Amino acid sequence: MLGLYDSGLGGLTVLRALRAAGITQDVVYFADQAHSPYGDKTEAAIHGYLRDNLAILGEQRVGAVVAACNTSCAVAERYGWPETPFAVLDIIATAGRSFARTPHRRIAVVATAATVRSGAYARAIRAAAPHADVHEIAAPELVPLVERGEAGTDTARRAVREVAAQLPGGTDALVYGCTHYPLLDRWFAAALDPRIERIDPAVAQAAAAAELIARLGLAPGSSATSYYTNGDPHAFETAVRRWTGDTAGRVEALVTR
Ligand code: DGL
Repeated sequence: MLGLYDSGLGGLTVLRALRAAGITQDVVYFADQAHSPYGDKTEAAIHGYLRDNLAILGEQRVGAVVAACNTSCAVAERYGWPETPFAVLDIIATAGRSFARTPHRRIAVVATAATVRSGAYARAIRAAAPHADVHEIAAPELVPLVERGEAGTDTARRAVREVAAQLPGGTDALVYGCTHYPLLDRWFAAALDPRIERIDPAVAQAAAAAELIARLGLAPGSSATSYYTNGDPHAFETAVRRWTGDTAGRVEALVTR
């Protein structure tokens, strides 16, 4: 069984990628919606959420955890990963490695304020592609929009347009450095020059998860997902149905600190 956590709905984009990659492991998904958005919080607070999320998933006896929250990985890069008896797949480290043979030279990363402040994405990409010019852009207004269920609205379209307008000239790739943003992909596609490739690190994270599963010898599952949120379970269930098409997965409320 795999564990997956995010501050909220963003992890659904990683879950989708896991299933699209043919991963059949059962997944326990924890959405820490009571503390969303992470991106506006302090590093100390985010590190505390990360520790708690891993402990919650650990109680479910997961074989490994797929981090679906970039912001927590950005903070862990600086403040360290909590010790766990299972492996944790860091989405920023995975994303960075995926640029090893990139043809792109001017890469923009849109992410939360805390992720941009950390500089972790630029470091991870440059470690794999030293020639790349990486520009990070904070887009703090996008996560709350998605969490409110407004991804399809005109407000979301306008907010994405404002972010897209901040890309430096000559940008040839845009990385979704926050798992919520692929849920706004239609607006990014509309706002950006079609020559700019839109890169969702969830794809590389799913490939890395498949390798990890093979390496650990985790037994295949039945592709079932159990969802837990410390936010509104009904709203979360609506989002699960909408974004993943999973009509079977149960959403349970979890009380946390
Ligand atoms: N979706 C998470 C990320 O990838 C966190 C977003 C937030 O809560 O600010 O960074």
